[in-house]
Amino acid sequence: MTRGVKSVLVAVVLTAVVTGCALVRKATYPPDFVYLEKTQVVGAMAELNVDLWRIDDIIAGSETILPYKREEIIGILRHMETVANRLGAGPRTTNHLFIDDNIDAFKEQVLEALRFVEKEPPNYYFAGRLSGGCMACHQRR
Ligand code: HEC
Repeated sequence: MTRGVKSVLVAVVLTAVVTGCALVRKATYPPDFVYLEKTQVVGAMAELNVDLWRIDDIIAGSETILPYKREEIIGILRHMETVANRLGAGPRTTNHLFIDDNIDAFKEQVLEALRFVEKEPPNYYFAGRLSGGCMACHQRR
């Protein structure tokens, strides 16, 4: 075999191995599967906890919410949406069935709060009640 033929063969074999691994991976996990470590869940919860606390602090602490505070609330709500997405909201599934069952309802409550805060004039009712969204998963705790 010439050198050229040999390296083509090596390339073909390598490609086959790499493709094979990719296929095995696909077969093991559906494409929309997110594997969540326990630390990722706990970390996400800690972030949500801070977000909620910050929103409550703004809403409870002011008679009138100034425009820059409104922007702050909008930013926090968008962050909560991002965290919900990290926890597999949408068409994805995770290794936590309990989270899969409840995260979409939670995200919907965040988005509803966001829609109301972005209204003219803004309405903070749902933003102030977001802890109710946590109850989807935390009722019995
Ligand atoms: C989709 C389900 C779900 C929603 C919604 C949810 N949580 Fe959790 N939360 C969990 C699960 C599951 C755990 C347990 C994590 C673990 O220890 O494995 C947890 C744990 C926690 C913890 C304890 C973390 C630790 O240190 O062990 C806090 C605090 C927390 N959640 C706050 C919140 C707050 C605040 C909200 C609402 C803004 C919320 N959670 C919404 C599922 C949820």
